[in-house]
Amino acid sequence: NIFNDTLRPDIGFTPVPAAIGASVDTVTVPQGYTARAFYSWGDAVLEGSPAWQQDASNSAADQILQAGQNHDGMHFFPFSDAPNEHGLLVINHEYSNDTLHPSGPTVTTAADGSKQRPAQEVAKEQAAHGVSVIEIKRSDGQWQQVLPSRYNRRLSANTPMDISGPAAGADAMKTAQDPTGTRVLGTLNNCSMGVTPWGTYLTCEENWKNYFVNGDQEDWKKRPSHQRYGVAAGAHSHKYYWESVDERFDATFKPGLPYGGFVNEPNRFGWVVEFDPFDPSATPVKRTALGRLVREGCTCVQGTDGSLAFYSGDDTRGEYVYKFVPDGKYDPSNPSANRRLLDSGTVYCAVYHADGSGEWRALVQGQNGLTAQRGFHTQADVLINLRGAADVVGATPMDRPEWVAVHPQSTDGYVALTNNDERGSTERQAVDAANPRADNHHGQILRWREHGQHPASLTFEWELFLLAGPTLSAPDAKNQIAPLEGDRFSCPDGLWFDRDGRLWIGTDYDELEEPYLGQGMNQLLCADPVTRRVRRFMTGPVGSEITGLTGTPDGTTLWFNVQHPGLSYPASDGKTRPRSTTVVVTKNDGGVIGT
Ligand code: FEO
Ligand code: CA
Ligand code: CA
Ligand code: CA
Repeated sequence: NIFNDTLRPDIGFTPVPAAIGASVDTVTVPQGYTARAFYSWGDAVLEGSPAWQQDASNSAADQILQAGQNHDGMHFFPFSDAPNEHGLLVINHEYSNDTLHPSGPTVTTAADGSKQRPAQEVAKEQAAHGVSVIEIKRSDGQWQQVLPSRYNRRLSANTPMDISGPAAGADAMKTAQDPTGTRVLGTLNNCSMGVTPWGTYLTCEENWKNYFVNGDQEDWKKRPSHQRYGVAAGAHSHKYYWESVDERFDATFKPGLPYGGFVNEPNRFGWVVEFDPFDPSATPVKRTALGRLVREGCTCVQGTDGSLAFYSGDDTRGEYVYKFVPDGKYDPSNPSANRRLLDSGTVYCAVYHADGSGEWRALVQGQNGLTAQRGFHTQADVLINLRGAADVVGATPMDRPEWVAVHPQSTDGYVALTNNDERGSTERQAVDAANPRADNHHGQILRWREHGQHPASLTFEWELFLLAGPTLSAPDAKNQIAPLEGDRFSCPDGLWFDRDGRLWIGTDYDELEEPYLGQGMNQLLCADPVTRRVRRFMTGPVGSEITGLTGTPDGTTLWFNVQHPGLSYPASDGKTRPRSTTVVVTKNDGGVIGT
């Protein structure tokens, strides 16, 4: 097997058992390890931050100084003088929960069916979205926040951001508030992420469609970018109903307003947003050259010649896997040129053939059928409706592509295909070699190797690494199912390789529902990429998904996120409001995590 020509990582811990039951309210790690709640919703970030109030009485003005909710993708950026002791932790805050308000969100329904929200609640929700940057330091063996810190920062749904690349300034990016199409407020639904070799963070905009509504169904039908991505058509947005108090989220065409009001505002979300965590004054930039998706993440691989690729999943049933190859190469001696690398390049979508070969097909206006007759007049049209472009060129519909991880030595890519209960139900989503199970509740991990192990290659070889579920298995060469050893799990979501090539897998399934009851609480697993043996490293509290994997360069500290716990974690006292939380893990003997 071509994927086995890499060192087997040392994986030595004793797995923890599955945590079964609706009252599990703790994090469990193997013997010899310590896990500690480190950074929770409401913790202080900026100067003047008031204490988190357990009754959720903190205001919107408080919330913007504090940690947001729903910690998701995350990365540790070390300071060069003490890389294993001091750094910046950057954490996505994907969305807001009912717990944000003292007794849940207030929603009323008007006579026309529209939903109404109090402005103060919406303002607090917008402040609980975005990203945290926090300075952290290890002293006397314990990681702590540095407060105050000149690096600390909160991005929210209202932070001013620039738009760059081929779609910047396009008519479809213009609104009544921004006639230039180059300046936008905020980032939404920041799920997974990426990191560049030049030290910037890439926060990715996932389910932004939930925030917008086009109230004119006939107009909606004429807008491929509203239709193909599922912007709501009708009385109100899918969730949140911010449009009742914030006109930006009402994407109904308004003939009396410049650029139709905010009909194009949804086009300004779904991008990769780049910023330098070490420069708190830097304006984040939405890089349109990478295209617009329900974008899960953006994982970088670097070739030996400085060429780069960035891999992304589009996390919806039957959507595709993509890569972006910049025109330029990474040059460590030319930092200012690196800052422009994400503004020009080629986006590709993945096609998985049944014989284990694969190809990357370019999404370029004028190529592969992306013609003006099909609505693609410019490259901006392609990038804004990247899904529609990938439909035309024949990408393979996948079982909800979540995170991509790249092996640190082989540069093989691994993508989590979390589940897809629509698989097999339509011709478009017929069972195929890459998505081999109908009504797929458990998900699989697929891996590939670029031809010549070159990031810019147009072809690759792929195989299924494992099929998750009540039994763990891998299809062999004849696509027969072969059992794998190890601990069971479902719905792989977060994927991350540590420096030694251990594959860490965070899960996201409904642990109290069939068919997941046997798997216990959501969990963090550690897999050997050569033997495919999987060991359960951690189990979480009920209600939570496990995500946001990162560590120190020396491998002795691991952080993960417990997202949306259901009972009272991290207080775990049976009464305190639950809080999404970053957890820090160390080995009691100071060793490398996973050994
Ligand atoms: Fe926010 Fe696809 O997970
Ligand atoms: Ca995810
Ligand atoms: Ca998920
Ligand atoms: Ca989530």
